[in-house]
Amino acid sequence: MFYTTHSHIFTWVVAIVLFIAAVALFKKGMAKQVKILHMALRLFYILIIITGGILFFQFAGINHMLYGLKFVSGLAVISFSEMYMIRMKKGKPLNGMLIGLVVSLLVTLYLGFGLPIGFNFMPL
Ligand code: HEM
Repeated sequence: MFYTTHSHIFTWVVAIVLFIAAVALFKKGMAKQVKILHMALRLFYILIIITGGILFFQFAGINHMLYGLKFVSGLAVISFSEMYMIRMKKGKPLNGMLIGLVVSLLVTLYLGFGLPIGFNFMPL
């Protein structure tokens, strides 16, 4: 096997930390720091997509449908995270985005850990 899931896991763990840090700093009114964290978060969106995309093109042949769902649910997590950040900065209601983020994240973790490459806690 040429490629493992470690770099992919690293990118989304960092993104989760950046997201939580940005929300915490926003609550403290530190808008400038939030801006920097949001920029870093966007960079990690791209790294998540690149590392996930490499896994996808290498392993999708194992099960096209489930790998396709993993791809789409991963993109949904990124979309909800970005919409949450933008709405938070604009002071708009966040409940819907938060629910979407949590649900898509749980689905993505379930699919990721269920699919055969890397950790495989709950085989699908
Ligand atoms: C924040 C978003 C994402 C999260 C939380 C996430 C989470 C995960 C997890 C937990 C795994 C399993 C790692 C392992 O078993 O060692 C994984 C694997 C994978 N991810 Fe993601 N992912 C995300 C985004 C994406 C995106 C955008 C793509 C596609 C471009 C993608 C494609 C893949 C593929 C193809 C695998 C290999 C599946 C397997 O274990 O067989 N992921 N991801």
